[in-house]
Amino acid sequence: MVLTGKRIVLGVSGGIAAYKAVEICRRLVDAGAHVVPVMTAGAEHFLGRTTLSALASEPVQTDLWNATEPIPHTRLGQSADLILVAPATARVISAYATGLSTDLLTNTLLATRAPVMVCPAMHTEMWEHPAVVDNITTLRRRGVHVVDPEQGRLAGGDVGAGRLAAPDRIVQAVERLFTPRDLDGTRVVVTAGGTREPIDAVRVIANRSSGKQGIAIARAAAARGARVTLVTTVGAPGLHDIEVVEVETAAQMQEAMQACAPAADVIVMAAAVADFRPKVVADRKLKKADGAPDIVLEPTPDILAGLGDAKPAGQILVGFAAETDDLLDNAARKLAAKKLDLIVANDVGAPGVGFQHDTNAVTLLQPGAEPRSVGLRRKDDIADAVIDTVVGLRSATTSSPGPTSAIDPEPTP
Ligand code: CTP
Repeated sequence: MVLTGKRIVLGVSGGIAAYKAVEICRRLVDAGAHVVPVMTAGAEHFLGRTTLSALASEPVQTDLWNATEPIPHTRLGQSADLILVAPATARVISAYATGLSTDLLTNTLLATRAPVMVCPAMHTEMWEHPAVVDNITTLRRRGVHVVDPEQGRLAGGDVGAGRLAAPDRIVQAVERLFTPRDLDGTRVVVTAGGTREPIDAVRVIANRSSGKQGIAIARAAAARGARVTLVTTVGAPGLHDIEVVEVETAAQMQEAMQACAPAADVIVMAAAVADFRPKVVADRKLKKADGAPDIVLEPTPDILAGLGDAKPAGQILVGFAAETDDLLDNAARKLAAKKLDLIVANDVGAPGVGFQHDTNAVTLLQPGAEPRSVGLRRKDDIADAVIDTVVGLRSATTSSPGPTSAIDPEPTP
């Protein structure tokens, strides 16, 4: 996990959105960060210290004049990997832009050389006031990361721009700050989920794919700078910066892929595409009283094999192999038959692996290379391992910088 061991000072200033800092704190801690919370006096009007102290890695600090530590702001500022201010009020933004230090948070902001990310939250009139606009421009010019507020409901029932960005957007922005941008400028297309092939107006033939692995790969590629299109049969929250194309059937997925594949630098087919579909689809609901229907199936197009046949020079094509038997033999056969650069094989019969789980274990096969196993871990981490390999493949063809090796693959037993 990219935030493991990262020391993040979470500055909370006094706005109604202070309650969302609790969720941001919890998510950062879950992602492996060491969170040190600092609250302003204003924040304490909206949020009790106890809640944040209970969820953070250390108790909340509020005071510049601390009996046990005479200069807490320099220690906080010097030891941080990131200062995140969420929510950031107009007052804190103004103080930081003009170099004013009045409390522990504003002192810490001046006493750090770590990156700083501010997440403004205020009423629309304040957010659009020329003073605030100028201060934000100043901060951006100095390299401060700003997570823009969103449109939405504000305190007092008003609606407009100025609402604190959603916690998942803020945490994603933090993760991206610590993620290598080794796919900058690359166009990546990922498929996710199981296709659903209609039988009649209400029934479908489906499979157990949840789409989690494909979505994790799309997110990992976007975090590393790629322009990502996700062709998917399932939705997911927080797919910011990712173009999502929703499809249901193999035919729709094939059409979507034919449209975006030619311009792609990397294609990852993580979707579980149905191999067969009903030959005739009833446009009304079939009635039970008419007896069990005879459903005649026909093959669907093999989308990946088609992409392999039409692959432009330099494009990297990645497939998945979901197997219950003869994992490596079957995967190696698919790797060659579909003209792939990489196949991600998983034994979907093993505990905790493949469909619907949050974890996976895979073997990565490339033409002419030894298979490499990545043992059971979160699908996000498997996604990083797949993207590391893709980056390695790209650097071999474009002689750009090598893979980041977020995970060292284990030798195949
Ligand atoms: N695939 C595809 N179109 C299909 C079937 C599969 O593009 N009609 C892709 C999948 O997205 C995956 C790869 O081909 O990346 C292998 O899919 P898998 O289901 O493991 O293998 P199949 O080729 O369908 O063979 P089998 O079902 O016999 O294992």
